[in-house]
Amino acid sequence: MAAFTVYLYLLLALSTVIFFVLRNISRRRRHILPPGSLGLPFIGETLQLISAYKTENPEPFIDERVRRFGPIFTTHVFGEPTVFSAEPETNRFILQNEGKLFECSYPGSISNLLGKHSLLLMKGSLHKRMHSLTMSFANSSIIKDHLLLDIDRLVRLNLDSWTGRVLLMEEAKKITFELTVKQLMSFDPGEWSESLRKEYVLVIEGFFTLPFPLFSTTYRKAIKARTKVAEALSLIVRERRKEVEEGGKKKDDMLGALLAGDDNFSDEQIVDFLVALLVAGYETTSTIMTLAVKFLTETPLALAQLKEEHDGIRERKSKSETLEWSDYKSMPFTQCVVNETLRVANIISGIFRRAMTDVHIKGYTIPKGWKVFASFRAVHLDHDHFKDARTFNPWRWQNNSGTTSPGNVFTPFGGGPRLCPGYELARVELSVFLHHLVTCFSWVPAEEDKLVFFPTTRTQKRYPIIVRRRDVC
Ligand code: HEM
Ligand SMILES: *[C@@H]1O[C@H](CO)[C@@H](O)[C@H](O)[C@H]1NC(C)=O
Ligand SMILES: *[C@@H]1O[C@H](CO)[C@@H](O)[C@H](O)[C@H]1NC(C)=O
Ligand SMILES: *[C@@H]1O[C@H](CO)[C@@H](O)[C@H](O)[C@H]1NC(C)=O
Ligand SMILES: *[C@@H]1O[C@H](CO)[C@@H](O)[C@H](O)[C@H]1NC(C)=O
Ligand SMILES: *[C@@H]1O[C@H](CO)[C@@H](O)[C@H](O)[C@H]1NC(C)=O
Repeated sequence: MAAFTVYLYLLLALSTVIFFVLRNISRRRRHILPPGSLGLPFIGETLQLISAYKTENPEPFIDERVRRFGPIFTTHVFGEPTVFSAEPETNRFILQNEGKLFECSYPGSISNLLGKHSLLLMKGSLHKRMHSLTMSFANSSIIKDHLLLDIDRLVRLNLDSWTGRVLLMEEAKKITFELTVKQLMSFDPGEWSESLRKEYVLVIEGFFTLPFPLFSTTYRKAIKARTKVAEALSLIVRERRKEVEEGGKKKDDMLGALLAGDDNFSDEQIVDFLVALLVAGYETTSTIMTLAVKFLTETPLALAQLKEEHDGIRERKSKSETLEWSDYKSMPFTQCVVNETLRVANIISGIFRRAMTDVHIKGYTIPKGWKVFASFRAVHLDHDHFKDARTFNPWRWQNNSGTTSPGNVFTPFGGGPRLCPGYELARVELSVFLHHLVTCFSWVPAEEDKLVFFPTTRTQKRYPIIVRRRDVC
């Protein structure tokens, strides 16, 4: 009897092992990577990617691979095998599963510049809390009641000093930086903000030293500048903390919200947080301002219609009266221009994530630890989703959602738990900027200038224009 029991146990154990081995084999068989080519050892297809994105027309890099392999393909860029998605459904899946199947992933060189307490690097419940705090600081009711007034005033102040030749990208950067500093810590533009901005420019340059930051003097300078920025901001945080402790009047800004909550953030946490917000809103919003003007200049009919819309708003107001929320809400064509600029320019061309586990999607498996890239650009410029996808046509937004596809295929601000908290703010800033620009000035490009997409979306010469003040202004 005992022998029989042992025999039974052995049989059971054996069949369990066989079961697991078979399961493993069948699983491995189902582990099919998306098709693609890994290119050369180590550098992979990085050089092809960079050289494509350094031209005015980077589309062939993705177009070619989509044609050969389909909309989900494997490549090897920036030192790692990476699965690219050029498909809205997969992109949405990646965005929505942030923190579950995927997590954000930045190279160490970028984390060092951002600071470890940056929102962009946070994960889990802390990220959730800080993301919603940031959202509630830039939501539409806050913009309407508080921020719009400053946006209107600071944009006007900047444009007032324009004469002759203007480097549009530089001016736009000044405007967005001043706006962010004002909104984060209530500082009006002046020597302090301008000297902070000088350091900031160095920090930002450090972000774009990929793929070889450690060999770059730009990167070392950026790290030094990061320290200086952090010191300047710490000083402010300490002063404000003292004011709060002494029962001073609470200021209505982001710093105030960070100090007032019962999260007991350290100075370092707050500084990293502020640095990240300055980074996230600065290049993006100023680039979109510049490119909107470039696209409008090249599409005179759209510019004429935009002018008409804004002159109409001005006619209803006295000369120096500020823009109100109701004015912002009565700019339908401007919103079409904003969307179309976001669609064609794709300032953030997509997002990198890392698979936290084996992820099965569309019959393929993305192995645990692999990088994925959800390309917004590929979707926004896909003829299947937007008719004549590669031309700037703001009118496409007039009657419908701009796209010929069902569902949400337009994601300039990402989505899911990491949806850009500045999505409404960026729209308002751009709309107010366009309002004052077209009502006060006419302009012509000073030189021919080309758009490139690496290391960031920008025009090569910072878009110089020659402006002339209109009589009505
Ligand atoms: C045209 C302008 C802008 C564009 C196209 C843009 C785009 C994006 C995108 C696509 C993401 C998602 C990144 C990801 O999923 O990994 C993002 C995140 C973020 N954006 Fe923006 N953004 C813009 C302006 C702004 C502004 C004005 C702010 C300032 C409040 C801002 C603050 C942030 C922050 C803090 C994050 C990180 C969110 C997180 O990781 O939880 N952005 N942005
Ligand atoms: C099945 O695969 C896993 C890893 O995928 C491994 O840890 C485990 O030992 C394998 N089991 C058998 C019975 O081969
Ligand atoms: C915006 O955020 C504030 C808190 O900062 C909150 O009271 C308000 O309800 C929010 N409004 C919207 C429209 O979400
Ligand atoms: C923050 O500090 C206060 C008093 O200093 C304390 O009562 C509270 O529990 C702290 N909160 C957290 C989240 O640590
Ligand atoms: C939008 O609708 C109007 C009339 O309702 C039409 O004249 C116009 O051509 C349409 N525009 C587009 C882009 O479909
Ligand atoms: C612009 O795009 C957003 C989605 O990001 C959409 O909600 C909005 O309706 C669009 N605006 C117009 C005028 O089509």
